Amino acid sequence: MKDRKPSWADRPVTPLDLALFAGVLALLLGGVIGAVWLIFGPGAAAEREPAAEVVTPAAPAEEGEEAAAEPEAESPYPPLAVLPPVPFPLDNPYTPEKAELGRLLYFDTRMSGDGSLSCNSCHPASDGSWGIASPISFGYPGSTHWRNASTIINSAYYTHLNWDGSAPSLERQNNGAWTGAVAGNVDPAMAEERLAQVPEYVRLFNEVFGDEYPTYMHALMAVATFQRTIVSRNVPFDAYLQGDENAISEEARRGYELFTGRANCIACHNGPLISDDSFHNLGVPEYPGFQNNPLNQITFRFEQWAKGVPDEIYYTATRDLGLYYITKQEEDMGRFRTPGLRDVCYTAPYMHNGVFATLEEVVAFYNAGGGDDPNKDPLMQPLNLTAQEQADLVAFLESLCGDRIIVEAPELPPYAPWDMEGN
Ligand code: HEC
Ligand code: HEC
Repeated sequence: MKDRKPSWADRPVTPLDLALFAGVLALLLGGVIGAVWLIFGPGAAAEREPAAEVVTPAAPAEEGEEAAAEPEAESPYPPLAVLPPVPFPLDNPYTPEKAELGRLLYFDTRMSGDGSLSCNSCHPASDGSWGIASPISFGYPGSTHWRNASTIINSAYYTHLNWDGSAPSLERQNNGAWTGAVAGNVDPAMAEERLAQVPEYVRLFNEVFGDEYPTYMHALMAVATFQRTIVSRNVPFDAYLQGDENAISEEARRGYELFTGRANCIACHNGPLISDDSFHNLGVPEYPGFQNNPLNQITFRFEQWAKGVPDEIYYTATRDLGLYYITKQEEDMGRFRTPGLRDVCYTAPYMHNGVFATLEEVVAFYNAGGGDDPNKDPLMQPLNLTAQEQADLVAFLESLCGDRIIVEAPELPPYAPWDMEGN
């Protein structure tokens, strides 16, 4: 055994130590007094900024302002508003180099088990949808998924990801995407091994994270950073909220009034994200054919098992139970997270199972008071809207669509054999 090293505690206290101690104490006290002054001092309330942790340079959205155009005087719901700057987590702050590394990984099929799928396969960056158009997504080769591939536009803002809210952060969501049996199906150790064989990745992970060799966790952090730059751009309705009366059509303005008024969409689609980030059962009908498609059914049964439902449910469930898988509370059966609606015209088909192909169908569904379900949300009531009013709502939804966000597929760095020094 080695001798114990002399520690700082063995040293006599010198006057310098005392002076340093006094200095630190004074700084701490000064900090506390300063903070109290800032919080309670004169003018503090007036200057208080909205709490944005870190500001993205990529988000074009302006400062989060309250809706200026149509004050919703008595509405109990948070008004629609422009999106605030993207909240980057304190333990994964934005840097341009990290986002760029994330972009490469987003497109890299080597991050899936058999090297055939990337995030971009199911969330294409080339058409502005960021979520494939098939109602039920395809899955890892030989399987199908069991849900519609959500768009990732504005996913930076949710506190729960996935239709059932199963993931609390993008980093965690992305882990499910890369490793999930019906998505990427990769083993993280294998992913690290592959990354280590791409010299350019070794260089980039070292530059961005200080890794000797790329780590899987840092790959998750990089790809999440890239996603946080995929945020709606130049949305006409946002311009309208900021005072440009003519940014949206008259039809859309009438639709906005219905949305926040008689059609009561705002009860769930509210605030800057146009989502309450919460869960509701609308009685969305089953996707036709889902019951008879063997691959869909294999995945469906597998998911019941993987999500740990009781035997009784495992043997009897025929529909996606949504939030129930997370809480195991009966009242949560069939509840799904409210999606935000910016750029909704690019993300058809709609709902967790892609059962509606057009916005017109979605609005007709709401007009009928939603579907059939014993757990249906009481907010879902027939709306008795005329054909013109339904068209107005669709026009409003279209005014939520900004510039298509297109990101080019990068040229990916190739594998290369290591030299004898192991570089
Ligand atoms: C095989 C297709 C497939 C692949 C590959 C895939 N996804 Fe997904 N993604 C889906 C489906 C389907 C959903 C909906 C899942 C659910 O709700 O259970 C989804 C959901 C998401 C969500 C949730 C969005 C929201 O608003 O809740 C994010 C974010 C996401 N994927 C990002 C990624 C990233 C990043 C990758 C690569 C690391 C990736 N996905 C790979 C199909 C895929
Ligand atoms: C009770 C809460 C609630 C109300 C009221 C509500 N929505 Fe929704 N909305 C949701 C939920 C939850 C989903 C996802 C449901 C699912 O996938 O099963 C959704 C989905 C949508 C979608 C599909 C988005 C996508 O990306 O797939 C659109 C469009 C939409 N709602 C528009 C509206 C309009 C227009 C109104 C008013 C007529 C409205 N909603 C009223 C909760 C609500």
